[in-house]
Amino acid sequence: MKKNVVVAIDGYSSCGKSTLAKALAKKLHFIYVDSGAMYRAVTLYFLRNQTDLHQHDLIIDALDHIDLNFHSRDYQSHILLNGEEVSEEIRQMPVSENVSKIASIKEIRQAMVKQQQKMGRSKNMVMDGRDIGTVVFPDAQVKLFMTADPKIRAERRYKELKAKGEEVSLEEIFENIAHRDYQDTTRQESPLIRAEDAIILDNTNLTETEQLDFAIENLKPYLV
Ligand code: CDP
Repeated sequence: MKKNVVVAIDGYSSCGKSTLAKALAKKLHFIYVDSGAMYRAVTLYFLRNQTDLHQHDLIIDALDHIDLNFHSRDYQSHILLNGEEVSEEIRQMPVSENVSKIASIKEIRQAMVKQQQKMGRSKNMVMDGRDIGTVVFPDAQVKLFMTADPKIRAERRYKELKAKGEEVSLEEIFENIAHRDYQDTTRQESPLIRAEDAIILDNTNLTETEQLDFAIENLKPYLV
């Protein structure tokens, strides 16, 4: 049987990974999985339950009460936390401010990675995150490592949140992105790092169409 194709997209916060991943999945009829949404949904669970984030044992025990599911509609990935659609709420600042702390905990990562690997076992898929090409799918056929100027990244995220009616400032977003990048690249457990065989994609000056063309070009050998 032909092996399924996995496209792993990793990179810094808010640099358009999910925009590219969704566009690729749509064009190629692949499944799209937003691994960041899983860490965000877990974080939302802890915030809602007012779990003391310094108490690792409480956090680990709670994993048994967290059920995450994806369903996709029109190539938009929706995430369900214990059956409730939380796709919008997980993008809000309280989650953004706490997610990297939660994502640095080994046991949380192990649980998420297990679920992600199960999803990628048999289907063609695009998955984006921080450790997809290094830890989740080290054998992925195509790995992209995305980056962009931090100021541009903050402006893009600011526009996105403002369009949804969120009360946020550009400075707050810039700080959050810088802080998450710091936490994600310096943590002990599977830090954000470029896999040796990942292709760098700096989209500071690229349109969405240009970055999609770039990815397709690199995928061509696997699309026959
Ligand atoms: O969309 P954005 O770049 O803002 O972030 P995201 O992909 O939604 O991920 C949110 C956070 O989850 C990241 O800052 C990481 O701390 C964590 N994450 C991770 O540790 N590993 C992944 N595979 C995906 C996300």
